[in-house]
Amino acid sequence: MGKPAADLNEKMLQNYTINNQQLHVKIEGEGRPLLLVHGFPLDHSMWNHQIEHFASRMKVIAPDLIGYGKSELDAREPLTLKDYSNDLAQLVQILSLSSPVVFCGLSMGGYIGWQFLKDHGSLVDRFIQCNTRAAADDEKTARGRRLVAQQVLKHGVNEIASHMPLKLVSSNASPDLVDEIRQVIQSTPAETVAGGHLAMSTRPDMTNFLPNIQHPTLLIGGSGDAVTPSQEMRCVSQAIPNSQFIEIEGAGHMTPMEAPGEFNQLIETFLNSTNPTS
Ligand code: MLT
Repeated sequence: MGKPAADLNEKMLQNYTINNQQLHVKIEGEGRPLLLVHGFPLDHSMWNHQIEHFASRMKVIAPDLIGYGKSELDAREPLTLKDYSNDLAQLVQILSLSSPVVFCGLSMGGYIGWQFLKDHGSLVDRFIQCNTRAAADDEKTARGRRLVAQQVLKHGVNEIASHMPLKLVSSNASPDLVDEIRQVIQSTPAETVAGGHLAMSTRPDMTNFLPNIQHPTLLIGGSGDAVTPSQEMRCVSQAIPNSQFIEIEGAGHMTPMEAPGEFNQLIETFLNSTNPTS
């Protein structure tokens, strides 16, 4: 006898209509929900190791944010990180989950995470933020993003696809991993890359929000992360009452891809403990 259709569906990428647009979401497994939110300018596939590991005991939900991966291009302009966060809240509500989600975001996914927790905290059980920061861009960084957005719209994504992957990983990363990241960036539409940069450049500073966070929080960084230095994450962790920061030695910005075994173990320990951050 074949598997029931609903069971097979759990193994497939699915489409959900969110704010009149098609969001592609990979959903696998059953149980406590784990929402994985990817970084920029990537898609759900950066979590493949986590999907494979956690789907045996959790319901893993890994969307392609609007405009990324196989999701539709966004019609809203200008798009803000609050829009992404509201899309995720709508997705979580549509899925009618049995309990609040474990939220896990990386970098841009983490910027969205602060907003999600602030606006939709009742949808969250535990909170995991990887390789991200809470502060807004300074003016120099924001200006740089506006410039890159213009360039990408004019000349396409080739330039950033060729140089960005090496910035995202440590010098220990394999050429195959660099190539995998390059291919994802290469297939991201120029409008999405430009819109993502503009959205990040106007994101609010979340530093004042950190002391209000009551959810058990785990922060994960990489000692070789050139994009989000560990020192900054350590300060973020110190500002959150019920949190801990753990650095993965030797990993760069893409900790879930570069050190999947250690990364998964950290999450496993955090989720299994009753008093996770003591
Ligand atoms: C990311 O990994 O999401 C980006 O590097 C974040 C950023 O550009 O600030």
